[in-house]
Order: sequence, then structure tokens, then C-alpha cells
Amino acid sequence: MNPAAPLLFFDSGVGGLSVLGPARALLPTAGIVYAADSAWFPYGRRSEAEIAERVPELLGRLVARFRPRLAVIACNTASTIALDHARAALDLPIVGTVPAIKPAAEQSTSRVIGVLGTEATVRQPYVDDLSARFASDCTVLRHGAPALVELAEAKLAGQTVAVDAVRAAALPLFEQAGGDALDVVVLACTHFPLLGRELDAAFPGRTWIDGGAGIARRIAFLTRGQPWPDVAPPGIAVFTGAPPNAALAKALAGFGLDEVQVLPD
Ligand code: DGL
Repeated sequence: MNPAAPLLFFDSGVGGLSVLGPARALLPTAGIVYAADSAWFPYGRRSEAEIAERVPELLGRLVARFRPRLAVIACNTASTIALDHARAALDLPIVGTVPAIKPAAEQSTSRVIGVLGTEATVRQPYVDDLSARFASDCTVLRHGAPALVELAEAKLAGQTVAVDAVRAAALPLFEQAGGDALDVVVLACTHFPLLGRELDAAFPGRTWIDGGAGIARRIAFLTRGQPWPDVAPPGIAVFTGAPPNAALAKALAGFGLDEVQVLPD
């Protein structure tokens, strides 16, 4: 294994940074390529067929270009729809991001848990399966909140995000029958942990769970024994659409992504 072979993180936009953060903390000298499919953003409003075709095709191009040792689909929408397609199409380990329903059920006292994701994610049979397997004694409420995806993008692009806007976007989850008792909410979209502070302020006292730390441990496990660079090389952020503004470029640098490239479609 070439020590310089990077880890590839992939999302529709900036959400995957919430997965990259914990992974960098665990593997601080790993080379990183972070790809945002900004030309196709947002995934949550696309059809299953579009995502199932797009994700393996784009990942294939990224793998050919950057030769990563492992790819992380740092996006719940892409993972719940296209993880199997991507694994079938590509010859490298691929880690997906699936809604953290199991730990949420383990932590809930009220036995009412929430799944907050994109519209595409919350309608997936994958979510039914996870609920049946790991939360059969819980009421599992779901809500697709595309406005939260836009708010997370705006925050990373330097705009101020109002707590009221975050509250309005997530409120329908809590307004469903039984929603008063919700104590644990799965952030089933990688954009949402980027709004952790605002969500806490809008709905105090709830526990928010995402998959970031678990994915980091999975990456470390799958790459155990492999050599890494002595010093972290500059990370690369790849955009398929418009390049980042200055504020986003600064935020990316905070995640070690010092170089920006545009991958023409
Ligand atoms: N970050 C993505 C997810 O985890 C999707 C956001 C979007 O493009 O709609 O689902």
C-alpha cells in the first residue's frame, strides 16, 4: 500500500465534512480527497434512479483520478440508495453512511425516536429495515427537511443561520402524534450535524445522534496495519459544479482541505 494513497470522502455538498472531521481526528496524517457533487446538489430531491446511476459513475471517475485506498460515501441519501451499486461497480472498500437508528434506540428512554433526513432518505426501505431490526419497541417518527440542507450550506458559505429558521425546518418532526415525547433524534443527513449548535438551541434537551464517530472507527479498522504519511499532505477539495466562495474555502482549509479543484462534468 502506497502511504500517499488518500481516503476519498464523497457527498453532494459540504455535509460530508461532518464525517471527515472525526476521521481526521483518528487518522491525522491520512491524505484526504473530499468530493462535493455540487453540480447535482441537492441529492435529497432527486429520484432513486438518478442517484443509483450518478453515484457509481462519479465515484468511478474520482477513483480513477485519485487512486484512493478507500472511499466513504459521506451522504445518507447516496448510501441508502446507491451503496450496493457502488460496491458492485468499484474494486475498493467503500464505507457508507446509514442512519444511526441502532444507537438512537439504545439511548432512548421515552422509546420515541426521530429520524431527520432528506426527503429521499426518510422514504427508503433501508430505514424501515433498520427500524424493524433495531427499534422494534420504539415509535420511529420521520421527517424530510431539505431546508436544513440549504441552511448548512449557507452556514459553511459564511452566512448567519437563524435558530428560528432551523426550528421551522425541523418542527414537523416534533408535531407528529407522539412527537412531544421524542428524546433522541437521528441526524440522518450528513449536513445536519453542521447545524448542531442551532438544533440544540431550537430544541433543548434532546439528544442528537449521527454516524460520524462510528464511520471514523470503521475506516481505522478497514485500514489497520496500512502505512500512512509521516506528515499530513495538503488535502484536496473537488467540486463538480461552481467552486467554493472565500468563506467556504476558509472553512474547507479548517478541515485540512487546502487545495480546490473543479472536476468538469
Ligand atoms: N448530505 C446528504 C445526506 O446525507 C444529502 C444532502 C442533499 O444533497 O440533499 O443525505
